[in-house]
Amino acid sequence: MDRRTLLCGLLALTAGGGGLTACGAGPPARRPGVGSARPGDRVAGLADDPVGSGALVDVAGDGQLLLVRPSDEVVRAFNPACPHQGTAVNPPAAGVITCPTHASTFDPVSGAVLTGPSPRGLAEVPVSVAGPDVVLS
Ligand code: FES
Repeated sequence: MDRRTLLCGLLALTAGGGGLTACGAGPPARRPGVGSARPGDRVAGLADDPVGSGALVDVAGDGQLLLVRPSDEVVRAFNPACPHQGTAVNPPAAGVITCPTHASTFDPVSGAVLTGPSPRGLAEVPVSVAGPDVVLS
């Protein structure tokens, strides 16, 4: 064991694991909504998200995504946490995504905010269709 590895190990022990980040070997950055899932991981089946609707799906490692399927071949995914105060938004209904806490509304295709108080739109998470599955990109 070299001196740097030993020092980083000691920092990790004394900082409850936070010292590893300072040594450049910390845990991988988490992307909002995706939990511990990685690019290529399956997040849902296309059958779970019928055309013209949307669904909240649980993702490995405590993640959750809002999938929206505006057409047969297009699936969009958003972090469902409302940018206002973090409430999980509802899947689209009547052509709009609504936050149940303070009624911000969002465009179901772009995630853009339509009416506040949310200061911005939903954060999109890149996904793609792979056969019968929706996978993280
Ligand atoms: S938490 Fe969504 S509008 Fe306030």
